[in-house]
Amino acid sequence: MSELKKLESSCLLEIANCGDLKKLDALRNVIFGKNGEFTKIVAELRDLNDEQKRKRGSEINLVKNNILDRLSAKFNELETRELNRKLASEFIDVSMPPRPDCSGKIHPLTKVEEEVVRILSSHGFEFADGPEIESEYFNFTALNVSDYHPARTMHDTFYVHKLADDEGRRLLRTHTSPVQIHAMLANKPPLRFFSLGKVYRSDYDATHTPMFHQIEGIMIDKSVGFSHLKWILLDFLKKFFEVKELQMRFRPSFFPFTEPSAEVDINYEIKNGKMIFGSGDKWLEICGCGTIHPNVLKSGNVDTKQYQGVAFGFGLERLTSLKYGVLDLRGYFESNERWINSFGFSAN
Ligand code: DAH
Repeated sequence: MSELKKLESSCLLEIANCGDLKKLDALRNVIFGKNGEFTKIVAELRDLNDEQKRKRGSEINLVKNNILDRLSAKFNELETRELNRKLASEFIDVSMPPRPDCSGKIHPLTKVEEEVVRILSSHGFEFADGPEIESEYFNFTALNVSDYHPARTMHDTFYVHKLADDEGRRLLRTHTSPVQIHAMLANKPPLRFFSLGKVYRSDYDATHTPMFHQIEGIMIDKSVGFSHLKWILLDFLKKFFEVKELQMRFRPSFFPFTEPSAEVDINYEIKNGKMIFGSGDKWLEICGCGTIHPNVLKSGNVDTKQYQGVAFGFGLERLTSLKYGVLDLRGYFESNERWINSFGFSAN
């Protein structure tokens, strides 16, 4: 048997016996690669004359095409086998039930925060911020809270450290009202700002948590007064509770930073165990407000001969609990998955 025929039959045998795609690829290299056996035979053509070259060339081509045909048939065979193996092992049962929905939920406080921001912004209130670690000056003194006011005691206020400078000791702000002063100092009247953020008080039971959130609003202008305050609060509460009618009652009250001060009640009734706002003759306290005390305006460098202002303050947790029926305040901050699954909102 000629050398060419020997090579042909040994190649065809190896191809036939090969059972693996990678090995088949390696075999192709051994035969046709740069230093492959077939390449060597082709190289020998160099030493022949034209006549011999033509004859030998056509013999080599026949063998080459035969081997290439077998190689590609083998590639197809092995690829099909591999595909079938994959299809069998990676079988997907489309009749299986889907996995349980485990997407996250929006915390009710976040939801209400968004609602409040949307309503107040629509009335032209801009957001103002202040630090959570405040000085006694901004948290109390600038807001006309007297030196002997009980809120200043360690019992109610978390002091960060006792060292005092011109602004007094540092503390965790007990309300968002100091933002009023920051907003007045940073801007010239007329002003219309709101703030929303964390406040801290030393208290813990079903209706108090040591950290909670407040919303603060101020309007300062040449002729702003209680009537503006009343309209803004009524519109805000109607939109927030999504009711067309709502009764409000202003009860005289006392806050050091407003004079006169009032607490606002709204009417409600209980139907099927749910609070319905805007109907019925029960009253529920919802926020504090008043005309800003001249001493507070002075702390904010506002000219009290030209300007006056009104302010209001809400508890975010209280608004949220009333709208969405959350009874125990502590649940808000316990990161309990069952709680968030029952009170949280889906993202869409
Ligand atoms: N800062 C008061 C509090 O923590 C709430 C408050 C009442 C804010 C009356 C106000 C206001 O702006 O006018 O209880």
